[in-house]
Amino acid sequence: VASLAGAGFSVSTHTVPAGERSKSLECAGGLCEELIAAGHDRKSLVLALGGGVVGDLAGFVAAIYYRGIPFVQLPTTVVAQVDSSVGGKTGVNARGGKNLIGAFHQPKLVLADTDTLGTLPPREFNEGFAEVIKHAIIRDREMLPALHPLDRSCLAPLIARNVAIKAAIVSADETETSGLRALLNFGHTIGHGIENAAGYGRYLHGEAISLGIVAAVRLSVSRAGLPEADAARIFDLLAAYDLPTRLDPDISTDSVMAALARDKKFLSGKIRFVLSRSLGSAFLDDSLALDDLRQAVEGLRE
Ligand SMILES: NC(=O)c1ccc[n+]([C@@H]2O[C@H](COP(=O)([O-])OP(=O)(O)OC[C@H]3O[C@@H](n4cnc5c(N)ncnc54)[C@H](O)[C@@H]3O)[C@@H](O)[C@H]2O)c1
Ligand SMILES: [Zn+2]
Repeated sequence: VASLAGAGFSVSTHTVPAGERSKSLECAGGLCEELIAAGHDRKSLVLALGGGVVGDLAGFVAAIYYRGIPFVQLPTTVVAQVDSSVGGKTGVNARGGKNLIGAFHQPKLVLADTDTLGTLPPREFNEGFAEVIKHAIIRDREMLPALHPLDRSCLAPLIARNVAIKAAIVSADETETSGLRALLNFGHTIGHGIENAAGYGRYLHGEAISLGIVAAVRLSVSRAGLPEADAARIFDLLAAYDLPTRLDPDISTDSVMAALARDKKFLSGKIRFVLSRSLGSAFLDDSLALDDLRQAVEGLRE
């Protein structure tokens, strides 16, 4: 705020309570009213400083305020820096589901200052690496040796590499039409099912995705010929970031399957699943049956 004011901008700040509950239409509407009261018009600019919740919410406000004003992403979590700030998906949650109300609205700039990550609790820091490991699996196996859980000294090039991967995929398939962007869902079909079945708050998103990655990697071994050694390498890496690789025993396979069936990706009947034949590349497969997914969930108990 001080540097913006010093540069001659007139700045107003608007904060929301931490947490997913702030990603609501009510909150977006409240922010719009605050912006009006503060005298902002179509020449104003929104700066979204925070994690993915703030980025999605503030981006959505920017998308609808005066029918759309520019915005800048200033992501402060690993998830936000490597994932949510890039790609232009903005929005809020509905009572009937996450991210159901929103707009594509690209930020003018994404400024990821890795120093901000220093204050993240370890669990939140580590969860972001599920998406990083996902990027390595689908696009960049050379990144794997660059991942050192205990060394936080060279985060900037690593974050930049992940932004480049997500940006390349998203710019080639901005509105999810060619299937390329769908590769980013690696680990997310079963991961979302587990996240839902466990109840939001039990696993952080990245933790559920870690389990989804384990399942997708195992299916990649059995259905697409991914070498066992590559699978073991991914499992070791997830564990090194303290990410779960086994499903908690009290979460039943039936509850995960029920959550999967409710997933919007299943509405059309066919299961579009992302698999990898070799680390660094992925493809969309529609040959899996629900029973294959059930076995994959069961496999997470071993
Ligand atoms: N738009 C997309 O493409 C996309 C992609 C992935 C995720 N998302 C969304 O992102 C959200 C999750 O984002 P998230 O994981 O960043 O969670 P979050 O925004 O809820 O942040 C996690 C917690 O960390 C705190 N925090 C943020 N920065 C901090 C810092 N530097 N130091 C200490 N604490 C800090 C926050 O206040 C919050 O309590 C979800 O709503 C998800 O749907 C969107
Ligand atoms: Zn994710």
